[in-house]
Amino acid sequence: MKYDQKLPKLSNWNTGVIQEKKMPDKKKMLPYSSRKSESITKRLNRVIASSDRVLYYPIVVDKAHDCTIIDVDGNSYLDFNAGWTVAGVGYSNDEVVRAVKDELDRSTGTASGTFPNEKTALFAERLVDITPGSFAKKVWFGHSGSDACAAAFKLLPLATKKHRILSFYGNMHGVDAGGMAMAGHPATSKFLIPSFVTKVPYAYCYRCPYGLEYPSCGIYCASDFIEENVFKYVNPPEDTSFMMVEPIQSDSGDVIPPPGYLEKLKKTCDKFGILFVVDEVKVGFGRTGKMFCVEHSPSVMPDAIALGKSIASGIPVGAFIARKELVDEGFVYSTLSGNAIGAAAGLATLNVIEEERLPEKARVLGEYLVRLLNEMKEKHRLIGDVRGKGLIVGVELVKDRKTKEPAKLETAKVVYRAWQLGLLTVFVGVHSNVIEITPPLTITQDDIERGASIIEQSIRDVEAGLVKDSDVSPYSGF
Ligand SMILES: Cc1ncc(COP(=O)(O)O)c(C=O)c1O
Repeated sequence: MKYDQKLPKLSNWNTGVIQEKKMPDKKKMLPYSSRKSESITKRLNRVIASSDRVLYYPIVVDKAHDCTIIDVDGNSYLDFNAGWTVAGVGYSNDEVVRAVKDELDRSTGTASGTFPNEKTALFAERLVDITPGSFAKKVWFGHSGSDACAAAFKLLPLATKKHRILSFYGNMHGVDAGGMAMAGHPATSKFLIPSFVTKVPYAYCYRCPYGLEYPSCGIYCASDFIEENVFKYVNPPEDTSFMMVEPIQSDSGDVIPPPGYLEKLKKTCDKFGILFVVDEVKVGFGRTGKMFCVEHSPSVMPDAIALGKSIASGIPVGAFIARKELVDEGFVYSTLSGNAIGAAAGLATLNVIEEERLPEKARVLGEYLVRLLNEMKEKHRLIGDVRGKGLIVGVELVKDRKTKEPAKLETAKVVYRAWQLGLLTVFVGVHSNVIEITPPLTITQDDIERGASIIEQSIRDVEAGLVKDSDVSPYSGF
């Protein structure tokens, strides 16, 4: 069957009532053995730049399929990360692999900016069709989420003839210089930032930077602070080209802004003629329970949207989709952008998402997972906050629920212990104290339960002192 035709139903997951919780299958928990992984890790450490990776345990992958990763020692892991959300339709998805293999045989090496192909047209047509906004749009293709975000940085000031940009503390837009300029994450704070980007606090309600509480705050951090201070003192609105927003701040701790936040930001943008751009590189393509996270705020139509990671299921593709008049000026073309292999992977990915109703599945299973984690919170004081939207869930660990002192070391230990017990997860956050759960959207309810049980067992084991400080000292996150 061709990748760009409608596929038959691939699975019959049940969107109905969630079954009652089952105990994990103890037999599936790993014996801790990673000799080969550790030896290859040492070789990697010698030759791969540390700036080019972030490790949480010494795993070396042999193969991966759906929600399972097998390491070079033969250990099989349940995956709660999806390659940082890249594998939204599961690792090595059969339909995607078939489509890519077909295209590899057909057109490898063609540079589609000059020798175009039809698949790129088809993929771009699908993207402009499914992204929010009924206005005419065009797609700029790149190779990563990073360059998709940087496309905003390059193209929008040119199109609007305004040079200033507004973004947020905690934002993460990848590693292109433009994206780093707009980021507000401590991991990028050591790099040079141009003075025409102004950053303001985000709606991190668990740790409100203004010491306020939702809803009595009236979401002060959105428009009030920006209009009363930022526009007045440092960033004239008439010089501002666009506002760059993550609808959920993922790498800074899976921070989910309160209802009404995006609406308020957009209103300010409209009032002052500023473009509103959303970065959905991590949360787009069904993860939050809608195809795009911004669709949870139906009145908010972004002028542009940056996509990457999961849109081609592991084939490097970034896409910046914007009102058509915003992306035509200038020359920002890279040799292999928009190639047919990426487009084939993207079309197959879209087919799988639609056929398997993955956004709906993410919503149902995500709500269930948050329920399980909140039950866990009742029993473990280490858990300070649980927050999620669909299948992006953050579990923030604290030493003390009152002071909210981040439990950074304990978080690293829980993630490390989970790896020992057969579950792959990572930690994120500006304080490196949030366990991030973003499994492939193809995950089953059984595996959600199994993973949640391993997290609870890992917390118990860390509370009992089973993980040594030295075990996690090489793994400090970002
Ligand atoms: C929100 C967001 N935008 C952009 C990027 C950059 O994507 P990539 O690393 O695939 O280039 C990331 C990466 O983590 C991200 O989380």
